Amino acid sequence: MRHLLTLDDWSAEHIAEAISTARAIKADPQEYEDALRRKTLCMIFEKPSLRTRLSFEAGMNQMGGHAIYYDTSTSPLGNGKETIADTIRTMCRYVDIIMARLFKHEDLLEMAAFSTVPIINALTNFSHPGQILADLQTIEEHKGRLAGLKLAYLGDSFNNVTHSLLFACPKMGMHLSIGCPAGKEYEPAPEAFAAATADAKKTGSRFVLTHDAAEAVRDADVVYTDSWMSYHIPKEQAAERVRIFMPYQVTADLMKKAKPDAIFLNCLPAMRGMEQTAEVIDGPQSVVFDEAENRMHMHKALMLLLLREAGRI
Ligand code: CP
Ligand code: NVA
Repeated sequence: MRHLLTLDDWSAEHIAEAISTARAIKADPQEYEDALRRKTLCMIFEKPSLRTRLSFEAGMNQMGGHAIYYDTSTSPLGNGKETIADTIRTMCRYVDIIMARLFKHEDLLEMAAFSTVPIINALTNFSHPGQILADLQTIEEHKGRLAGLKLAYLGDSFNNVTHSLLFACPKMGMHLSIGCPAGKEYEPAPEAFAAATADAKKTGSRFVLTHDAAEAVRDADVVYTDSWMSYHIPKEQAAERVRIFMPYQVTADLMKKAKPDAIFLNCLPAMRGMEQTAEVIDGPQSVVFDEAENRMHMHKALMLLLLREAGRI
């Protein structure tokens, strides 16, 4: 049973297939309007969401299926009355596919271990693979290719988005530079760092981690940043994190060090004046709403591919 748990588990071919399928669905959605007829998706949420929830639900509806929003705060699972194992074994008797947005990545792995239907990681503290697949689609659409491009990521790098970039970009032959503060709570987790180093060696791409924001973005084709206050970070840490991450804020001046035709990405939600200035996110290089739109095309592609492979369509 193939799931989407992290992009570490996915080959370059699987990633390329997801991107080309998402682009085909985007180009001709009518062609796929019955592709998931009468299929049911369960969407397990422990954390908030705008894009992920709406794009999965709208995407499933557009393909003729149905999506159930399952908020763990009103479930026996969230109330400590039922185990992950019993929840998933029950859920699999009703639905064809599951997506889950959770705090602990280990809980997602446990779900996958008990599931007889495909599971899609819709964000854990550790990784956010569906996001990065939609980001790669967006980059390919704007730049015409992935291999040989340089992506610079600035800011909080001990996070799900960074880890998924590390698992995917070097594998796809992209050069990757990370600009972040020093310290293990701000730098990528060792396993993601090791995967990026090994993949870069295999594909001949460059992978660099630096504490100098200007060096990170130099000649980049894509500049990417993410929230300094991910959903799981306690509010009390806000002031301290603003102080630590401010040198990595994406400003118009910093964008000038990238290539003149560089595009700007942020997975959203975004805070103007924090991880980037308003001038950057609302400026001509920003493609953040194309990026947000592509979440839906990518989710449709992922459901189609995984359900097809599981023999359920
Ligand atoms: N980018 C993203 O996953 O957004 P949501 O938290 O709104 O789903
Ligand atoms: N790193 C962010 C991504 C939000 C989509 C978070 O975990 O909140």
